Amino acid sequence: MHNKTLTALESKRHWLITGVAGFIGSNLLETLLRHDQQVTGLDNFSTGHRHNLGEVQGSMTPEQWARFRFIEGDIRDLPTCMEACRGVDYVLHQAALGSVPRSIVDPLLTNANNVTGFLNMLVAAKDSKVTRFVYAASSSTYGDHPGLPKVEETIGKPLSPYAVTKYVNELYAEVFLKTYGMDSVGLRYFNVFGKRQDPEGAYAAVIPKWFAGLLREETVWINGDGETSRDFCFIDNCVQANILAACATAPEVAGSVFNVAFGQRTTLGELFYLIRDEAAKFKPACAEAQPSHRDFRAGDVRHSLADISRSRRLLGYDPAFGVRDGLARAGEWYARHLG
Ligand SMILES: NC(=O)c1ccc[n+]([C@@H]2O[C@H](COP(=O)([O-])OP(=O)(O)OC[C@H]3O[C@@H](n4cnc5c(N)ncnc54)[C@H](O)[C@@H]3O)[C@@H](O)[C@H]2O)c1
Repeated sequence: MHNKTLTALESKRHWLITGVAGFIGSNLLETLLRHDQQVTGLDNFSTGHRHNLGEVQGSMTPEQWARFRFIEGDIRDLPTCMEACRGVDYVLHQAALGSVPRSIVDPLLTNANNVTGFLNMLVAAKDSKVTRFVYAASSSTYGDHPGLPKVEETIGKPLSPYAVTKYVNELYAEVFLKTYGMDSVGLRYFNVFGKRQDPEGAYAAVIPKWFAGLLREETVWINGDGETSRDFCFIDNCVQANILAACATAPEVAGSVFNVAFGQRTTLGELFYLIRDEAAKFKPACAEAQPSHRDFRAGDVRHSLADISRSRRLLGYDPAFGVRDGLARAGEWYARHLG
């Protein structure tokens, strides 16, 4: 692990991870417990899974696992949030309903989880006087702004209800700093991927969906012409950013937002062949697979690429895994768990 992150984990702290049974939350849990931190986790299992927690438990010593307290509960309930924040130093708030298409189908549900739930967590963290509240923001906040690469201070108009909720999170966090002096940091994630990202269901993200499709020899669909591009970010980079954001001391960090990405753009067409190469290592039959194309998806941004220089400068963020390295690791995990 990168040196600055190790230093941040030298002192023993109490962390709260919301959405701990999800993809990013369970990876945060694994790293923190492995470094002998104390962790409280909150999840309602709406999109997360008990088996994610089980997998983390299986990779820990009993002593490390004993430092984890799990609360099954919902961030839409303020008393649950208050209970979860008790005695906590740092909050890593991940619980939300992801997916642009889901938010188009059910904007009320997305708003209740992502805005009301977020506000509950902010209030609970403020009242518990946590040291810092780090939260999952999103690259969707760049919306219709055409500029590339994306720099934190220049955003466009949101293109989906999901993007609205993530932008509202940033506005609330800013106002809580001005009004109550509450310290928070938003991390604008750009297409995070890696082990335990859910490949199932209508709202699965592209990388797990394509690994599953290829390993199961099903049709893999590209929405649009394949030229849509994203800055895909391996999960270990995202975990590093969370720990650094919690512990960073530069005065500009409090109340601010940061891009979390690798800083490289991959088109969906290129991504298909990268994933196919990884999948073929485990399932030679998919070496010749070709994608099928269908319509563009509503609400999707056409291109995305992050400028990560501010995260590097103020957080000491130094992403160690590029797309190929990350896909190799993710592919190995999907091959073990699917097929
Ligand atoms: N994965 C990405 O590429 C990406 C990109 C941008 C932003 N994000 C944000 O990162 C965060 C984590 O995403 P993820 O990819 O791990 O998704 P995920 O669906 O795997 O994890 C979300 C977790 O939150 C839990 N949850 C949802 N609503 C809840 C509620 N009301 N109360 C308690 N728990 C609740 C779910 O059960 C799940 O375990 C989300 O806020 C998401 O919007 C993710």
